Amino acid sequence: MKITIHGSGYVGLVTGACLADVGHDVVCVDVDQIKIASLKQGNVPIHEPGLEDLIRYNLESGRLRFTSNPEEGVEHGLLQFIAVGTPPDEDGSADLTHVLKVARSIGQHMGDYRVIVNKSTVPVGTADRVHQAIHEVLEDRTETLDFDVCSNPEFLKEGAAIEDFSRGARIVVGSESERVQRLMRECYAPYSRQKDKLIFMDVRSAELTKYAANAMLATKISFINEIANLAESLGADIEQVRHGIGSDPRIGYHFIYPGCGYGGSCFPKDVKALARTAGEVGAPAQLLHAVEEVNEAQKSRLFDKLKQAMHGNLKGRTIALWGLAFKPNTDDMREAPSRTLMEQLWAEGARVQAYDPEASAECHRLYGERPDLCLSRQRDAALEGADALVICTEWKAFRSVDFEYIARTLNHPVIVDGRNLYSPEDVKRAGLDYYAIGRGD
Ligand code: UGA
Repeated sequence: MKITIHGSGYVGLVTGACLADVGHDVVCVDVDQIKIASLKQGNVPIHEPGLEDLIRYNLESGRLRFTSNPEEGVEHGLLQFIAVGTPPDEDGSADLTHVLKVARSIGQHMGDYRVIVNKSTVPVGTADRVHQAIHEVLEDRTETLDFDVCSNPEFLKEGAAIEDFSRGARIVVGSESERVQRLMRECYAPYSRQKDKLIFMDVRSAELTKYAANAMLATKISFINEIANLAESLGADIEQVRHGIGSDPRIGYHFIYPGCGYGGSCFPKDVKALARTAGEVGAPAQLLHAVEEVNEAQKSRLFDKLKQAMHGNLKGRTIALWGLAFKPNTDDMREAPSRTLMEQLWAEGARVQAYDPEASAECHRLYGERPDLCLSRQRDAALEGADALVICTEWKAFRSVDFEYIARTLNHPVIVDGRNLYSPEDVKRAGLDYYAIGRGD
């Protein structure tokens, strides 16, 4: 099938590479000419395991091409995926400028029937706006040119995006047109052969499904974090509670890991946007607001615990920080708990000595050179001369450590663990004070 993907960001690249890999003829379009020139050479601007290899392989096979010319893209694909960014506006609602710009460009250049497939995360009702935008551009060509707009939300997790695309639980398509359903079935057939994963529904329900899924997952996280904080006050251990509740299949183990709050480009933005949409239509969104509030407070808990551990005095201290990315296997620091912590530490006059396997360059890009930030090249180098250690991300490389060495190296024997990586007994045996989430101190 001939497929065009507008937007060569994270979602667009994963979608394009995966669809090319199963045999489709894919063109990826982006207005950023520098990015396209580098993608043509097989250089991928984001860190996603397996993506660069997949792109290079499919570039060589000729099934995947990149262009900065929208006209070429619109001419190419019967399916026109829109996978451009929808950054939050100042008021928290999703900014549709890029989506509607692509829609207009499709309308301008199309010479035949096209299906516009919206993959960007957009508020309910956006498909109607895309339809309207194309209709307006077509003007007197509306008599001869036919098109459909459908919604096909993505459920990719950063760090596991290729796996999620290939083996995800479901493929949601919002369209009641039989023609669109047939074409989308053909597009996703390689991923849906063994088990029919396609779920067809009306377009507004598909748009809401995306937000509802992320809001549900964020709710689970804020819930377990609230129970973790309660466990601290009650002298219970959240890890045992997690095991106890997760064993009930109605609850399940997924997304009930307590921590220092959720970050990334999706949950914070989507929970806010959905709450805002609810406000606009006069529907209550008490739960969504609470989920967000709990998360904001949770991001500050590491600082509070550290301050308590250091007897209220952080000025002039050097804090070792392991993990800058909002989660492992990515270099993404958007809304990362590490940022809240660093900014609080700096405001208090402390210095940060940080290590992350992938996100150092991103941290440097965000904060530049500053005297109170040192980015270490190695995990243990971040400990040298530091007063205490805080862990913000559960990278594999942090799971097995020599506690005796940490105790010897730190000026104060303190670990604040935002991801509950260790057995409290093991840490304490080495003479370290261990502050985790929901486990008593
Ligand atoms: C999330 C969803 O999981 C995807 O299904 C969705 O497609 C994507 O958003 C999106 O809308 O594009 P992502 O933001 O990449 O994916 O990351 P997650 O793995 O879901 O983690 C989000 C945050 O929740 C991280 O900060 C993580 O540390 C935190 N988390 C996750 C917890 O604190 N506890 C958990 O049990 C699970």
